[in-house]
Amino acid sequence: MQLLALGVVSTVLLSGHLVNGEVESLENYVHLSFDKLRGSRYETATKGGKPSARLRKRADGYEEIEIINEQNFYSVELEIGTPSQNVTVLLDTGSSDLWVSGPENPYCMPVSGTQDDFNPLSWITRSTLVSGSATATSSGSSGIATMDCSEYGVFNSSRSSTFRSNNTGFQISYGDQTFASGTWGTDTLNLGDANVTGFSFAVANRSNSTVGVFGIGLPGLESTYTGATASSDNSYQYQNFPMKLKAQGTINHVAYSLFLDEPEAHSGSILFGAVDHSKYSGQLYTIPLLNPYQNRGVQNPIEFDVTVQGVGISQSGSTKTITTTKFPALLDSGTTLTYMPYQLTELIAARIGARYSSNLGFYVMPCPADNDNTQLLYDFGGFQISANLSNYILGSSSSSNVCYLGIIPLSDSNAIFGDNFLINAYVVYDLENYEVSMAQARFNATQSQIEVINGSVPSAVKAPSYSATWSTVQSITSGGGAFTSGAAGSTTTATSTTSKTSQHKAAGDKLAPTSIFVLVAWAFSFVV
Ligand SMILES: *[C@@H]1O[C@H](CO)[C@@H](O)[C@H](O)[C@H]1NC(C)=O
Ligand SMILES: *[C@@H]1O[C@H](CO)[C@@H](O)[C@H](O)[C@H]1NC(C)=O
Ligand SMILES: *[C@@H]1O[C@H](CO)[C@@H](O)[C@H](O)[C@H]1NC(C)=O
Ligand SMILES: *[C@@H]1O[C@H](CO)[C@@H](O)[C@H](O)[C@H]1NC(C)=O
Ligand SMILES: *[C@@H]1O[C@H](CO)[C@@H](O)[C@H](O)[C@H]1NC(C)=O
Ligand SMILES: *[C@@H]1O[C@H](CO)[C@@H](O)[C@H](O)[C@H]1NC(C)=O
Ligand SMILES: *[C@@H]1O[C@H](CO)[C@@H](O)[C@H](O)[C@H]1NC(C)=O
Ligand SMILES: *[C@@H]1O[C@H](CO)[C@@H](O)[C@H](O)[C@H]1NC(C)=O
Ligand SMILES: *[C@@H]1O[C@H](CO)[C@@H](O)[C@H](O)[C@H]1NC(C)=O
Repeated sequence: MQLLALGVVSTVLLSGHLVNGEVESLENYVHLSFDKLRGSRYETATKGGKPSARLRKRADGYEEIEIINEQNFYSVELEIGTPSQNVTVLLDTGSSDLWVSGPENPYCMPVSGTQDDFNPLSWITRSTLVSGSATATSSGSSGIATMDCSEYGVFNSSRSSTFRSNNTGFQISYGDQTFASGTWGTDTLNLGDANVTGFSFAVANRSNSTVGVFGIGLPGLESTYTGATASSDNSYQYQNFPMKLKAQGTINHVAYSLFLDEPEAHSGSILFGAVDHSKYSGQLYTIPLLNPYQNRGVQNPIEFDVTVQGVGISQSGSTKTITTTKFPALLDSGTTLTYMPYQLTELIAARIGARYSSNLGFYVMPCPADNDNTQLLYDFGGFQISANLSNYILGSSSSSNVCYLGIIPLSDSNAIFGDNFLINAYVVYDLENYEVSMAQARFNATQSQIEVINGSVPSAVKAPSYSATWSTVQSITSGGGAFTSGAAGSTTTATSTTSKTSQHKAAGDKLAPTSIFVLVAWAFSFVV
């Protein structure tokens, strides 16, 4: 069996929460559960579980690692058109358009029979958008009809009485090398009880991805906009799903809360227009999104980049600061692992006894004990999110007791915080105020406490160092005192603590972009 039968995804528009047994007036939010699947390809992914490294003995005695092929997928089922057609798509905060496959994709074949081909770039997130205007380069259609697209549903627009074509071309390609192209149009979209009419999405008549993508990111990343900037005039933004929900009055504010739940959980949830206070512990703190493209004329942030103000580690009761050098990190649920600046990865590795293996392209270390409770601590400006190191460790399936670190050195300066970080945090993405609010995720809630977001995230307060945002690339140095407790932090090299104001003012002037473009270029050179 090569193809996985997908579980039904439940989507519920909660019509109100019970207070003393009474139903309150209709609340303005949408609750959506998604399936969490893990595997080398969406087609063969299975529910839940931690990533594991599959090892293979090579002739020269080295064990080859295949974790690079393991990733997480979050799938939801949409009903599109009249009468409705069911299509399964991947939920993605790292892109901003919805597209689904049409019935005439030359890459699709009528019968199943996909092989487990190795795609070395699939570990880079699907949501790491390369460019909205990339061109599909495959020539002809002979020999490319290798995918079974029927499993996830295709949308035949001629069968929907409510479909209206916009007659404008759509093109997108992702960091995992999949692409889609087709035509923009509008139709109704149902997510359980949440209905949206006149919704803009694309129907792809050409794509080498079997499954469509449901991008819910910022409008600045819409391919109608980013893909067209070079050719100026015809670029436009439209109301994507979260914006449309507000425009039609389903939610009051363009924001959503993402809860990935425990690593082993089979589903997670997203709450459009509301916060569930039962899903986190402590205080929700708000920080601004960065706009690394400001000096390129991009007015507002287009992706979820935030400032990390320090990193620490907690081992057997003592907490030490690893660095207080600021760096930008992209919060990306479409990325499975975590990518960090070279120097920082090295500093963390040194703390936990991991060494870089150039053969493998990963840090390797002896597997930690089952009860190891080492935690990485991230300071986002006066509040911290802790992450169990165990979620960053990819165990080997052999008896060699070699484990792999799920932190990959990325670049000199920027980071991508994927699922192994994000499962630890409850994150509210405020697309209207260009902020995120975060707190430590809580997994044992028995009753939800949902509160609608009107103008700002309820109960959230600005982080103490809200304004001390990252502005320029600095080399990561060890030390500092962000996490002092008990056996204080090491203070080998004090980081220069430039004043908050001056750092803030410098923002945007001479940024090396924390670019997804740079990332993809790096991925190529890394793999080749
Ligand atoms: C389409 O999806 C909805 C919601 O998940 C489900 O209730 C319905 O049975 C599905 N229809 C088909 C034909 O699969
Ligand atoms: C799409 O639907 C139309 C109208 O029902 C039908 O004629 C056409 O064959 C369908 N296309 C495909 C590829 O199934
Ligand atoms: C249709 O395309 C035009 C540009 O040709 C654009 O201005 C308009 O917003 C598009 N409509 C939708 C619904 O995408
Ligand atoms: C999809 O097509 C692109 C462009 O032709 C190619 O580079 C990539 O490897 C393909 N990916 C898959 C998964 O087929
Ligand atoms: C896909 O749609 C575009 C735009 O409508 C069209 O130009 C192209 O010929 C179509 N390609 C295929 C393979 O049907
Ligand atoms: C959403 O649309 C479906 C099918 O068109 C319909 O059955 C349902 O009542 C609608 N729900 C709402 C809240 O309008
Ligand atoms: C981290 O470890 C603690 C203690 O073992 C556990 O309760 C918690 O659920 C873990 N968190 C994650 C995200 O795995
Ligand atoms: C639930 O988890 C939180 C930490 O996330 C902890 O403080 C609390 O005691 C737990 N409650 C129960 C009932 O286990
Ligand atoms: C948000 O708006 C809803 C009505 O849409 C109202 O019931 C609720 O009290 C408001 N909440 C806050 C915190 O203002």
